[in-house]
Amino acid sequence: MSPEEFRKQGKQMIDWIADYYENVEKYPVLSQVKPGEIIGQLPTNAPKESESMDQIMSDVNSIIMPGITHWQSPNFFAYFPSNSSGPSVLGDLLSSGLGVQGMIWATSPACTELETRVLDWLAGMLQLPGQFKSTSTGGAVIQDTASSAALSAILAAREKKTNYKTNDSGNSGKLVAYVSSQTHSSLEKAIKIAGIGKNNLRLIGVDENLAMRPDLLEIVIQADLKAGLSPFFVCATVGTTSTNAMDPLTEIGRICRKYELWLHIDAAMSGTAAISPKYRHFLNGVELADSFSFNPHKWMFTNFDCNCFYVADRSVLIKTLSILPEYLKNQASESGAVIDYRDWHIQLGRRFRSLKLWFVIRHYGVSGLRYHISEHVRIAQEFAEWVISSDDFELVAPAPLNLVCFAHKNGNDFNRKLLETINANGKMYFTHTEVNGQYVLRMCIGQTNTKEEHVRLAWETIQETAKELSS
Ligand SMILES: Cc1ncc(COP(=O)(O)O)c(C=O)c1O
Repeated sequence: MSPEEFRKQGKQMIDWIADYYENVEKYPVLSQVKPGEIIGQLPTNAPKESESMDQIMSDVNSIIMPGITHWQSPNFFAYFPSNSSGPSVLGDLLSSGLGVQGMIWATSPACTELETRVLDWLAGMLQLPGQFKSTSTGGAVIQDTASSAALSAILAAREKKTNYKTNDSGNSGKLVAYVSSQTHSSLEKAIKIAGIGKNNLRLIGVDENLAMRPDLLEIVIQADLKAGLSPFFVCATVGTTSTNAMDPLTEIGRICRKYELWLHIDAAMSGTAAISPKYRHFLNGVELADSFSFNPHKWMFTNFDCNCFYVADRSVLIKTLSILPEYLKNQASESGAVIDYRDWHIQLGRRFRSLKLWFVIRHYGVSGLRYHISEHVRIAQEFAEWVISSDDFELVAPAPLNLVCFAHKNGNDFNRKLLETINANGKMYFTHTEVNGQYVLRMCIGQTNTKEEHVRLAWETIQETAKELSS
């Protein structure tokens, strides 16, 4: 494709995306296709000859679009959001255009240095303690996902506990990790990948708010020590996936210090809230953590993928993950004056993701981000109030931020039917969870363009559908 042709097609593509954003509410939010419907329309073999962009885009419109679930619809209330914004998409496009692979400083100094600067900005915006900044003992790196960040934290914790011996001779089978019963499944996956073994992952019980109980954590640690095992890692969650429960960071952190355990904080969605001083208190206790991670690709208007992973002591992470083959040796690295982010995560190669974060932060400004986040929380709190005042529905868990867990009083089967009926009509999309055997509806408010009117309409739809199903 010549630069001239690219210019022409690129302009059309931007128009296509802008039209999509303008019309996104016209699509059913949850894709209504059946399994196999998309693949059945795609040729079995790749085209032998070149096809035009017009032909390709025609298939996008007729084959691909019906198979899209519209995460960027303001009527998307499912899971946790994976929101986006114009500046983010443009930053990502620029990153693709530059095609940089920033595995080491020398392979694009700007890719490394912008990332370092933007992550230090974010540390300031979240009021993270000084040790998490690159100017101190720690620092941060952009990873693809919170899952990869958790795996990196577990590996660093494993090596720190075993004096870097596990990297050489493998795991003794004695290391034990602790998470709450509500912790995201990515922690179990990471524990398996890190060779710790699922049987050495303890699921700590939770209180009535579904937050980890520090007293139970300490009892289990003591029992493991008595059994000759080696406790090494705790993950506390700020905003669990199921109900947005907040683990008590300070108490958990004190226990980790007492028993010399690595504390990782997973704040995948709710970490973003701390940009607003009103919600910063949810991170109180982060000063006791060894690592902290959150996903701007969930709630910070930055399109997937973008996880920010902070460590208090970068030397442990780097010592755990660095390997230096001859072909990567270079003067800049040897001078010790630069960061080589390849030593901060699992993979070698890396995209220029900090561009989109930089674009987003500069476009909105800190005050703009605070405004939009606070609005989402305000609307969610209003929704929670509507639920509380309703005769037919009840709140099932505390709603500290932008997730409301609720249920109709007619029981599990009714709630399941209610959810399926609403999602099938395409006006909105929301999902469920289970709390103590109860089937629970979840409304998570975090899409960039969701306004009060969308949530009001959603509440009307929920109430009306419930009435129809009851009668
Ligand atoms: C609390 C929490 N942690 C981790 C994850 C995993 O996120 P990712 O897809 O970035 O790995 C999620 C995903 O929703 C989550 O809610």
